[in-house]
Amino acid sequence: MGTTNPFKSQPLFFTKKLITWALYALLPLTLLHFYFYPLPLKQSLTDQIPENKPIIVSSQEQQVFYEAPCDYNDGKWVRDESGPLYNGTSCTTIKEGQNCISHGRPDIDYLYWRWEPKQCGLPRFDPTAFLRLLKNKHLAFIGDSMARNQLESLLCLLSTVSTPDLVYRNGDDNKFRRWYIPSHNTNVSIYWSPFLVKGIEKSNTGVNYNRLYLDSVDDRWASDMGQMDIIVFSIGHWFLHPAVYFENDSVLGCHYCPELNHTEIGFYDVFRKAFNTTLETVISSRRGTNSNAIDVIVTTFSPSHFEGEWDKAGACPKKEPFMEGEKELQPMDAEMRKIEIEVVEAAMKKGNQFPGLRFEALDVTILSWMRPDAHPGPYMHPFPFANGIPERVQNDCVHWCLPGPTDIWNAILLEVMKRWEVQSWKQG
Ligand SMILES: *[C@@H]1O[C@H](CO)[C@@H](O)[C@H](O)[C@H]1NC(C)=O
Ligand SMILES: *[C@@H]1O[C@H](CO)[C@@H](O)[C@H](O)[C@H]1NC(C)=O
Ligand SMILES: *[C@@H]1O[C@H](CO)[C@@H](O)[C@H](O)[C@H]1NC(C)=O
Ligand SMILES: *[C@@H]1O[C@H](CO)[C@@H](O)[C@H](O)[C@H]1NC(C)=O
Ligand SMILES: *[C@@H]1O[C@H](CO)[C@@H](O)[C@H](O)[C@H]1NC(C)=O
Repeated sequence: MGTTNPFKSQPLFFTKKLITWALYALLPLTLLHFYFYPLPLKQSLTDQIPENKPIIVSSQEQQVFYEAPCDYNDGKWVRDESGPLYNGTSCTTIKEGQNCISHGRPDIDYLYWRWEPKQCGLPRFDPTAFLRLLKNKHLAFIGDSMARNQLESLLCLLSTVSTPDLVYRNGDDNKFRRWYIPSHNTNVSIYWSPFLVKGIEKSNTGVNYNRLYLDSVDDRWASDMGQMDIIVFSIGHWFLHPAVYFENDSVLGCHYCPELNHTEIGFYDVFRKAFNTTLETVISSRRGTNSNAIDVIVTTFSPSHFEGEWDKAGACPKKEPFMEGEKELQPMDAEMRKIEIEVVEAAMKKGNQFPGLRFEALDVTILSWMRPDAHPGPYMHPFPFANGIPERVQNDCVHWCLPGPTDIWNAILLEVMKRWEVQSWKQG
């Protein structure tokens, strides 16, 4: 089992992935000089809040709620012997390529860390509390494979108390799926939409660049928005790929398209516009009289950690998290995060005028950056070194092993939802 060489047995798959992964390796080099400008490592959303008072709401559930948002960037990874709530055997919904242990990853130290913010406590994920907050609701993850990574972590965490039933699936590679959790009458779903706005993805046979229409959102999720109570948007990496951008049916420019006669405009402004259009569309949807309340969470950009060549052993070789201040966030990661936070802040200001609309950035960029040890690397494929170290080995230094750091993202998501619940009690 697991001894086939994926490069020999699946040439088509390899060619397709080669292009994708080569881009990750190549783009940062070519773009370095004109896109990168640094941002301070710590940029707090809560600078104006001098202290964060905890309120104990329920001593029975041992839950502590914080009145003000916590700055989750400021913290460190600390050893935690208690380990994850689930594993690759107990949870059956983990995507193959992220089930690192079942693929033979030998070191398991990366499972024993928890994030410790300085300003506030971050309790271990409590599936019962999460399900209570999701009762009679529909939580939708919308975005790319990082959205899926977070969703799959959540499904594993929730399945420790109540098993989600897969009730709908559609699209290649199950890009659209919905689960129903009967114990709480809860729906959890995933919508594939790597740009959030209307987009045509590049294909192997046709044009090899994406086309993005920045002035309108992708209907595949937007048409269901009326049934969603909580939305988690998570995108970013697809914006690094070659693309042509349209606005109001005219070409705005392109990114990395030397063979086309369009102006190179990079992807930062485009990324901002795509998010702006998305959140503005959510806000507009609240203008109707019978519109549902929507909570919107934007998971910030998730950094990758390619160190060496993507197709050589040791592309992301670290076995431990970075310690505080060990290595500064890369400028591109910082810029992507900054854009998302600014758009969310603008949406918060605007959205406040509409009851039932809340926005929050799930600011995971920095804490994820500090986890170079937790990517699948070569274990995206089963037992990559069963026959010794091959000359080429494909590495995933973008997604996260499950269990892994995305479990912490969901622990923070729960804290956001708990804080919102307290605010609702106070208001009503
Ligand atoms: C995985 O979790 C299950 C259920 O908690 C447990 O019985 C099993 O021993 C675990 N497997 C591994 C490899 O840790
Ligand atoms: C869950 O999804 C089903 C099927 O789309 C729908 O009929 C039901 O109303 C949804 N329930 C909630 C609580 O969103
Ligand atoms: C597209 O239309 C919007 C609204 O009409 C306008 O604000 C924007 O400047 C237009 N963009 C371009 C590139 O023409
Ligand atoms: C490229 O665009 C420029 C300026 O719009 C135009 O002068 C030139 O003819 C175009 N070249 C091609 C090959 O289309
Ligand atoms: C979208 O961009 C417009 C124009 O720059 C700005 O006025 C608006 O506040 C932005 N909205 C959001 C949600 O970022």
